[in-house]
Amino acid sequence: MHIKLAKTAGFCFGVKRAVDKVYEQIEKGVKPIYTFGPIIHNEEVVKDLMEKGVKVIDNINDLENLKHGTVIIRSHGVSKEIYDIINRNHINCIDATCPFVLKIHKIVKEESEKNKKIIIIGNDKHPEVEGIKGWSDLSNTTVIESVKEAEKYSVEAPNGVCIVSQTTFNYNKFKELVEIIEKKGYDIIALNTICNATEERQAEAKQIASEVDAMIVIGGRNSSNTQKLFEICKKECENTYYIQTLVDLDLNDFQSVGNVGITAGASTPNKIIEEVQKNVRNEF
Ligand code: F3S
Repeated sequence: MHIKLAKTAGFCFGVKRAVDKVYEQIEKGVKPIYTFGPIIHNEEVVKDLMEKGVKVIDNINDLENLKHGTVIIRSHGVSKEIYDIINRNHINCIDATCPFVLKIHKIVKEESEKNKKIIIIGNDKHPEVEGIKGWSDLSNTTVIESVKEAEKYSVEAPNGVCIVSQTTFNYNKFKELVEIIEKKGYDIIALNTICNATEERQAEAKQIASEVDAMIVIGGRNSSNTQKLFEICKKECENTYYIQTLVDLDLNDFQSVGNVGITAGASTPNKIIEEVQKNVRNEF
């Protein structure tokens, strides 16, 4: 059997940076360490960090009650309110927000201050989008994810509309939604803030999936970028399997397969990718 492993599989720059920052603090002996939300969408990594004493805070109330320690902000970033609470409580803050996400915060803040309407193309429930929203005037901000929502969009926008995107959004879908909104005649600036890491990973996954008999996509169940990778691959290759770790892999599915492609979402550690690759290779 031939295996094609995507070069772009696994941790992107921002996630690697955030995870490294947590391990750095552990090595320095800093205690207690908290992350605001799980540092990445990967249960294995989060479990390992918990075993090393890192606690996850996942709501504002718990953060409000925190009076000492170090809080690490993950690559998804957070709203301004979270920084305000951390500063108010004099807690040590390690900001691991990905610089590409920080750029979106800056855009949204500046454009919102110019009284523009803000559209965030993305998933309203995703923590990155929640964070982005927290830098803009909420009454002027709309999150759009679907064609239906784009078609429905109708506001008074005398100062224009600024469109940004969640970093992990699918580029073609972003373009489609922007085109729908553009037709409404607003004065628009549309900034493609999709991260290159995502575009490259998606393009490579699509290419590999179109060339193989079966495709394995590895990533956390809650990872939106892995889910998108899966959708893209499934369109190209009917035999696409979404697994979280090696345990989910049923090697029977690959019995009569000549070529297997492997890719992984941005939060998947190398260790897991290597394990999967090794097992598929050894089995056939
Ligand atoms: Fe940053 Fe792009 Fe990763 S925005 S967190 S490098 S997917």
